Amino acid sequence: MVEIPRVSVSGLRISYDLGVLTHDMLAQNPFEQFGVWFDQAVDSQILEANAMVVATVGLDSEGNPRPASRTVLLKDFSESGFSFYTNLESAKSLDIAANPNVTLLFPWYELHRQVIISGRAQLVPRNLVEEYFHSRPRQSQLGAWASRQSAPLENREVLDAQHAECELRFAGLEVIPVPEFWGGWQVVPDRIEFWQGRESRLHDRFVYELHNDSIWYPTRLSP
Ligand SMILES: Cc1cc2nc3c(=O)[nH]c(=O)nc-3n(C[C@H](O)[C@H](O)[C@H](O)COP(=O)(O)O)c2cc1C
Repeated sequence: MVEIPRVSVSGLRISYDLGVLTHDMLAQNPFEQFGVWFDQAVDSQILEANAMVVATVGLDSEGNPRPASRTVLLKDFSESGFSFYTNLESAKSLDIAANPNVTLLFPWYELHRQVIISGRAQLVPRNLVEEYFHSRPRQSQLGAWASRQSAPLENREVLDAQHAECELRFAGLEVIPVPEFWGGWQVVPDRIEFWQGRESRLHDRFVYELHNDSIWYPTRLSP
């Protein structure tokens, strides 16, 4: 039997009134603008300000394009791109290897803000992967070894056994090697949109796009 919700879903709404975004307020380029908003998101102490939804395009069983999305953590950003780390044999990595076009979405609901970054993903150079992997807690390093991310698992015990096996395997080693199947993707953007919620659903939206491969130019979009 379907349970009747106790709250009216259609009635859930808040008004967006925390700020405005005008052309004058925008930074010269979207990386600076992202930096300003990212710092504000971290300072506001919202949960996991660096969490972002990565959308990829894969193929369904009939070979038609099919989007998929999931949350990952942003680990670095600069004018070169936005990076995250993951299993290179995971569903998302297989999607990206076949089609590098992705979007990254930061849902900063508490700030009535959203940032959407579109671009092409490329592998993070191996020396940076090594550096980041070894900065992680030992247990996370073992976790990377223990999980064949996205593959079916018989039950929880199998995963725990794989983890125990990795603990034994690397027990005497101070430095755990980086699994070949683990790495990072750096998204090189060509479009970055900043959304600030406003009253009456008349939000402020600006999209920076790259012109002539060199100049970023912001355009206001209808909400
Ligand atoms: C808050 C949060 C942060 C996450 N961070 C990562 C991450 O940095 N890297 C990663 O591979 N998976 C991360 N995950 C798990 C992914 O959402 C996803 O389940 C996993 O990567 C497998 O995705 P795929 O099968 O589509 O490849 C995170 C999940 C959440 C909810």
